[in-house]
Amino acid sequence: MRSFLKATLIWASIAAVGAFLVVWLGLYNVSARQGHLPGVSWVLHNAYRSAVWLRAPSEDEVPELSSPSLIALGRRHYQDACAFCHAMPDQSRSQTALSMLPAPRMSPKRFRTGSRGTCTGSSRTA
Ligand code: HEC
Repeated sequence: MRSFLKATLIWASIAAVGAFLVVWLGLYNVSARQGHLPGVSWVLHNAYRSAVWLRAPSEDEVPELSSPSLIALGRRHYQDACAFCHAMPDQSRSQTALSMLPAPRMSPKRFRTGSRGTCTGSSRTA
């Protein structure tokens, strides 16, 4: 039993050092232009969704989003921080954005109406 634990610890340490080296040396290409090995996209998407779910306020805490000042603030923020890749409504995405894998989706048409739920995962739903 003791030697089993020792062997497990040694292999776990080797795996941890190997993983650290892969990250530290940049051996795995995280470029948005390359696509990912099978399973990596799943890990990244789930990490993203879980992180948002964990930190997003509950729906009860979401302020009234139909306020004109909040809509204007959101539009300015989207224009400054998001439109470069996702484009503004009625604009096409840049070649840079189109070369990403997967390409960022266009801003949905309902963004224009200011309706809720445009950004999936922006608030907790479960
Ligand atoms: C540098 C480019 C870039 C910028 C800037 C950017 N995005 Fe994205 N976004 C992407 C790409 C690429 C994807 C697709 C990623 C994927 O599906 O794995 C994406 C996906 C998304 C998705 C869909 C996620 C899903 O699970 O379907 C949402 C929502 C989103 N972005 C919101 C935003 C918001 C809000 C901003 C601004 C605050 C923003 N993005 C800024 C590139 C960008």
